Amino acid sequence: MGARDLAGLRAAITGGSSGIGAATARAFAARGARLAIAGRNAAALRKVAAATSAVCLPGDLAEPGCPRRTIDAAVGALGGLDILVSNAGIGWAGRFADMTEADIDTLLDINLRAAAQLARAAIPHLQRASGRLVFVGSVAGLVGVPGEAWYSATKAGLSCLADALRAELKPAGVGVTLVSPGVVDTPYFERRNEPYQRRHPKLMSAQAAADAITDAVCRGRDDVVVPLWLTVPARVKASFPRLYRLLAARLA
Ligand SMILES: NC(=O)c1ccc[n+]([C@@H]2O[C@H](COP(=O)([O-])OP(=O)(O)OC[C@H]3O[C@@H](n4cnc5c(N)ncnc54)[C@H](OP(=O)(O)O)[C@@H]3O)[C@@H](O)[C@H]2O)c1
Repeated sequence: MGARDLAGLRAAITGGSSGIGAATARAFAARGARLAIAGRNAAALRKVAAATSAVCLPGDLAEPGCPRRTIDAAVGALGGLDILVSNAGIGWAGRFADMTEADIDTLLDINLRAAAQLARAAIPHLQRASGRLVFVGSVAGLVGVPGEAWYSATKAGLSCLADALRAELKPAGVGVTLVSPGVVDTPYFERRNEPYQRRHPKLMSAQAAADAITDAVCRGRDDVVVPLWLTVPARVKASFPRLYRLLAARLA
């Protein structure tokens, strides 16, 4: 899928019941996309659906089989699939050594395993439509944030998955986009075990993150960091790794 607008396109958005996913549903609906939105909170899903004419796909993506059922239901309801926005995710902050086994598994299950299973189920449909697979990663996945080690690792996994699938699916006409937001003002922080306390980067709105996702899909972009200035840490890390490590140690 190259550059195109969204009128009439069929999109599934996971994590559509809250935050970035709900804002993306509103942004896609405003451009004429036909939507299926997934999440666990059925009441919250219905509220977003009422404003976006979306089909609701309630379910816990960490449960075995749920990602495939979600894609099958989206395809059944929409008659195919042009875009999957794999956005559902959770955070965890604190010392890595303080994480429980269950914390590690839960983050892996929803942030990476479910995203992979969703992609696997969606790819045949996206191939038929020359569609686009969108992963919502994080700047933490590009540089590894101290105090968010495992969250960073799950998002780095998504970044690698996106790179590999982009090359693998190009001959089949499927585009792959990785959107890596900085810090976004959503319920994400109250849901994880620690509120956001840093002064920088500043919180941006879910609407700004959703606009970046929408723009990336419409323009057929591969890789988007939002806000743009947060590409700097990843560039410094790639070009001047020793300097990066010195700065990271100071700022940790
Ligand atoms: N907020 C940030 O600063 C930030 C920064 C970078 C990246 N991100 C990423 O952006 C994505 C969206 O986060 P957000 O900020 O919008 O947070 P949010 O408001 O907490 O939304 C998270 C969404 O994921 C869904 N979800 C979580 N666990 C799920 C599960 N087991 N099964 C199905 N759905 C599940 C939630 O559904 P229910 O509420 O219905 O359970 C909710 O819709 C995440 O991948 C997050 O890692 C966020």
